[in-house]
Amino acid sequence: MSSSVLPLIEGADPANFPLDSFKVAIAVLLSKALDLSLDTAFSGVDFGRKGVDFTVAVPRFRLKSKIPELIEKVTSTFTPNHYLEQCVGESPFVHFYVRTTTLFKLVLERIHQSPASNGVPFGSNWQGAGKKVVIEFSSPNIAKPFHAGHLRSTIIGTVLSNLFEANGWDVIRMNYLGDWGKQFGLLAVGFKRYGSEESLANNAIMHLFDVYVKVNRDAALEKERGEPEITDQKAREVFRKMESGDESTLSLWRRFRELSIHKYAEVYNRLNVRFDVYAGESLVRSDHIKAAMAALEANNLLTDKTSKESNNNWKEKKVAMSLGTLRTAEEEDAEANPSGRGVAKAVDLNQWKLGKPVVQKPDGTTIYIMRDIAGVFQRYEQYKFDKHIYVVGDQQELHVAQFFKIVSLLNAPFADRLEHVSFGRVNGMSTRKGDVKFLDEILDTAKEAMLAQMQQKEEKFKDIEDPDYTADQIGMTCVKVQDMQAKRVHSYNFDPQRMTSFEGDTGAYLQYAHVRLCSIERKVAPTVVVPSDPSQINFDLLAEPKAREIVFILGTYPDVVRTALKTYEPSNIVSFCFRLSHIISSAWETLIVMGQEHELAQARLFLYMSARDVLGSAMRLLSLSPLTRM
Ligand code: ARG
Repeated sequence: MSSSVLPLIEGADPANFPLDSFKVAIAVLLSKALDLSLDTAFSGVDFGRKGVDFTVAVPRFRLKSKIPELIEKVTSTFTPNHYLEQCVGESPFVHFYVRTTTLFKLVLERIHQSPASNGVPFGSNWQGAGKKVVIEFSSPNIAKPFHAGHLRSTIIGTVLSNLFEANGWDVIRMNYLGDWGKQFGLLAVGFKRYGSEESLANNAIMHLFDVYVKVNRDAALEKERGEPEITDQKAREVFRKMESGDESTLSLWRRFRELSIHKYAEVYNRLNVRFDVYAGESLVRSDHIKAAMAALEANNLLTDKTSKESNNNWKEKKVAMSLGTLRTAEEEDAEANPSGRGVAKAVDLNQWKLGKPVVQKPDGTTIYIMRDIAGVFQRYEQYKFDKHIYVVGDQQELHVAQFFKIVSLLNAPFADRLEHVSFGRVNGMSTRKGDVKFLDEILDTAKEAMLAQMQQKEEKFKDIEDPDYTADQIGMTCVKVQDMQAKRVHSYNFDPQRMTSFEGDTGAYLQYAHVRLCSIERKVAPTVVVPSDPSQINFDLLAEPKAREIVFILGTYPDVVRTALKTYEPSNIVSFCFRLSHIISSAWETLIVMGQEHELAQARLFLYMSARDVLGSAMRLLSLSPLTRM
């Protein structure tokens, strides 16, 4: 290849993925040497292991000739060009080394360009353009604690939303509140007894929780003492009124909902989390529920669930509840049929090993799974989504599988667009004061732990302008990073001490890496200032292997973003951040800016600023606010 003009290949996007240029150049060589189509050749180019830029595993092309012969063909066809410097056979691989000057130019100029000339910032792309995804996440239950599962869903859901957006998708962020069921009847009864308008306006979430605890105690005491279960009866009555659309009960409930949302939004905001829609179980329309029931009937999917079966079902659920692993609306569903009054309707999914979930209670009131089934039809009608993701913990694995199965048995046109993004548990989420109940408490715990860490370094602590804000931000970073560090399916132990440490791969370490990158520019100004046109910078001066290593990893960032969308793993991005931070921290001693000859200082400063920009945008993708001082 004498010229530097590359052919177009489907799937290659050199404008947004600067390293794609090198992959294309390798594909051109492979296609010539091995007589492959450009597409096939391109798909065979991978990043190399440490020290190698790109690698091709020759056997993957399944060609007739022997591997050593094929490798020989490639290496003998190779001539160095504008993109590629060297090619080395190491059976069954061929390794490629790219031309450093071209690498620097393509990567550093692209980082600097964004987004003005290209439309999307470095790291983003248009692959999802024109497609819409609904992502449901967080979904706490009003008047119940915001537990660790909700926190993980919130964190993972936010990052997934950002990821889809970075890949060009249109994203609807949806919070599906647990805001319906018998417990709201109970809450209304409790509010009459213990409620205060003032506390409700102040902090609805906390107040409703208090009221709920008190009224539950009333109900439990009546049961225990063998007294008439007045509280419970009243609650059922109120809920029945709500289900039949009684305005006076509904208006109270609506206020609970609105004030709770108001408070939730405040805390979400603190976390850099936002929603486009606050949906809720209460907002699944009854005509959709009726239509879904009718469809189940028409497809012959409904069977009776005898009281004995229901009883067993209930017993299983009771066990799950005592383990604290069951969602709350299911508690209410379970309680609906403890002694086998009447016959419930169920769908037999035993042939798929998914049990026989009840979809309608004997008294005809709605049920959690039915609200999910009907709800997704309603959402499809409204959004015509190309994909719908439910970010829900693994405790509800069975529930989600049942719900998806039923939707597919109903031949819903969108059945194959539904995806469950599951995750493992968080253990030991408690503070010195006891079990954590509210999101604020979790964040406050992290913040306190962070402040304590910061105060240990007295000298530095004096210089921090707003220790409160800084501790809060770092604390949050620590909570999120701890959560996203390992693969989603893994459970982890919530450990405020360890997660806020400056040692090891923690959120605090990431913030520190970013702050240090920011401070270098401040330190050398005004002696060294980077010119606004980066083509005036002499990249050739960045001759150290460390500099090349940094530029190469920066160049992989768009690929990391693209890959994380396939795996739905925020951990991919977290480990990119750590890898980058480690390389940079090992560069400080060799790539010195201060006191260097001017041109060299400029080139190095530009390199650090590019690293800062990429680390910053990766952190923002993770919904973190990168700090500039700490
Ligand atoms: N509110 C539920 C709970 O706290 C989670 C909702 C999950 N989403 C769904 N579509 N079922 O357990």
